[in-house]
Amino acid sequence: MAASHGHRATAAGVLARCRELVRPALAEAVGRLHPWAGEMAAYALGWSDATGTPDPGGSEGKGVRAALAVLGAEAVGADGGVAGAVAVELVHTFSLIHDDIMDGDGLRRTRPAVWKAYGTGPAVLAGDALLALAVQSLAEAPGPWTAAAVRHLSGTLNALVSGQAEDLRFEQRPWSGPGAVEPEQYRSMAEHKTGALLGCALGLGAVLGGAPAGTVSVLERAGRHLGVAFQAVDDLLGIWGDTAVTGKPVHGDLRQRKKTYPVLAALVGGGKAAQELAVLLESPGLLDGTAAARAAALVEEAGGRTATREEARRHLDTARRSLREASLTPAAAGDLDTLFTSLLDRSR
Ligand code: IPE
Ligand code: MG
Ligand code: MG
Repeated sequence: MAASHGHRATAAGVLARCRELVRPALAEAVGRLHPWAGEMAAYALGWSDATGTPDPGGSEGKGVRAALAVLGAEAVGADGGVAGAVAVELVHTFSLIHDDIMDGDGLRRTRPAVWKAYGTGPAVLAGDALLALAVQSLAEAPGPWTAAAVRHLSGTLNALVSGQAEDLRFEQRPWSGPGAVEPEQYRSMAEHKTGALLGCALGLGAVLGGAPAGTVSVLERAGRHLGVAFQAVDDLLGIWGDTAVTGKPVHGDLRQRKKTYPVLAALVGGGKAAQELAVLLESPGLLDGTAAARAAALVEEAGGRTATREEARRHLDTARRSLREASLTPAAAGDLDTLFTSLLDRSR
């Protein structure tokens, strides 16, 4: 049920409403997995602890993608919201399980990452299981537009892999000079690794509802820009977020020497802080806690923090403008706008 006119919901309210709507179908889907894969999936989804004991509300994600899928469907008056939401939440959960292995991050949503809790081999399997389940659940959605929806999702999966490939390959590139990662290359990476799934989420309900191609592409474009903004904020939180709230390791990206937007933007700025930062990042060996804290201070001094806020703001504005190009149900359009805007100032 969409929020009625005059009672505009808060972003937290929108997320909670969508989460409640999706959870039963998501739980039913997870129940179809092999019990061991299902236990790891329930852990990753924040429904149980690492012994398989239910731990309700423990460490669930924000549910942004599920909400986008529900609202995207509502926005075109279609029914496919929950089916699309289940598929994208499963894909998202799979991608995080594998991402933490790739990034060597041992902490996710304040708890040990799945690979830390269950081992790397089992975590790979849990991710595979969720990916397979996502495709299966969407392929089994009723209606004449199922094949089209599966096509959209599979294209998204390919884009997500491209984004992760670019992200990992950036780690080997130099910080400055001819081989350095350019902001435009970073943007493309972010659009693939994060934007593709947000775009898919927002468009999938419309696809399942048989909405016109023009409407679907406007929704997907809005979601992709939202994704780039979302990733820029993710990068900011990775440096200046409160780890008790983000639930991720302190300075994880910096210590890992990830090429995130704030660092790249800081280096592009030139100047004394940027030079010291480049020397620090190019020094051999792991960055310890003190070095990472110094790097964070230099990124800020060199303007990387401000530039990243501006990047996020730009893409958020483009996303909001895109949304207004489609003719959408007013209540859902209002909820989407509220949700979009809230993501800029989120703390986790
Ligand atoms: C994750 O990107 C994107 C995917 C899982 C595809 P990041 O590695 O930047 O995200 P966090 O910070 O670990 O959540
Ligand atoms: Mg990561
Ligand atoms: Mg990553």
